[in-house]
Amino acid sequence: DGELSLSRSLVNSSDKIIRKAGSSIFQHNVEGWKINFSLVLEIRKNILRFLDAERDVSVVKSSFKPGDVIHYVLDRRRTLNISHDLHSLLPEVSPMKNRRFKTCAVVGNSGILLDSECGKEIDSHNFVIRCNLAPVVEFAADVGTKSDFITMNPSVVQRAFGGFRNESDREKFVHRLSMLNDSVLWIPAFMVKGGEKHVEWVNALILKNKLKVRTAYPSLRLIHAVRGYWLTNKVPIKRPSTGLLMYTLSTRFCDEIHLYGFWPFPKDLNGKAVKYHYYDDLKYRYFSNASPHRMPLEFKTLNVLHNRGALKLTTGKCV
Ligand code: CTP
Repeated sequence: DGELSLSRSLVNSSDKIIRKAGSSIFQHNVEGWKINFSLVLEIRKNILRFLDAERDVSVVKSSFKPGDVIHYVLDRRRTLNISHDLHSLLPEVSPMKNRRFKTCAVVGNSGILLDSECGKEIDSHNFVIRCNLAPVVEFAADVGTKSDFITMNPSVVQRAFGGFRNESDREKFVHRLSMLNDSVLWIPAFMVKGGEKHVEWVNALILKNKLKVRTAYPSLRLIHAVRGYWLTNKVPIKRPSTGLLMYTLSTRFCDEIHLYGFWPFPKDLNGKAVKYHYYDDLKYRYFSNASPHRMPLEFKTLNVLHNRGALKLTTGKCV
């Protein structure tokens, strides 16, 4: 059966890769890369058994009414009230309904993008997905600027916009969102308690400034379904990272998926230091057990999928 053979080969190739010594486990040939369409279709079909990205990418207005109380996905004892603002920003229908693309870029935030000169190539894809409202203008030559879909963990408000403490933080945020025009802004608001006031502030700013951005809030089942798919394929992740989530979702909409900015390692293959993020000074966190993610394991898996032609992983220069 397709699913079993996929999981068997994923495990076999992972084993093979892990058995190889040193940095060679991260090597992948970009020049000779060719897409394997039958594998792409098989993966799409298998993921559809766990989730339908078209539906699970966002809850819709009719799922809730203002005042409803929901349990956080990763913290079931705690609850969140669906406010009027949040309800008014829920989409009527999935923002990804009937959208299909020949080629997509999923852009992670690793410092490996610096000096990559990948900006033009990234922007040449039909649909570009980015993570955590990463800045683009100052880095356009390396990361491009096109953003059709962008994620935003609630913690970004604190981390990159000073917790909206003063007017200039709020202005900077509104400016960033206005650059997105009517792209999809994907906010995982129902994962864990802690970010609810940030989400409310974001919602209020979007409404007050009449921003065109199309808000989406992932379904309550998405993260468990994504984890389930990877666990079934013997990839024991704890919690999928945003980047892996985006790859998993994009298999539904995109025939050819190109990944950039995925490199969860502090050095490149030549031993040169690589920043965790291309745009700030955040340090590597995922080596400790406290990290919710297993990015190096995710990377190895994506590398296997690259070598089998299911996706294309770029970690070097584009020109
Ligand atoms: N990423 C990577 N290597 C890095 C940094 C990020 O491969 N050095 C990928 C990961 O898949 C990550 C995505 O790029 O989920 C987006 O990066 P970031 O915004 O840093 O995600 P985090 O906030 O660290 O983690 P998450 O949002 O997934 O909790």
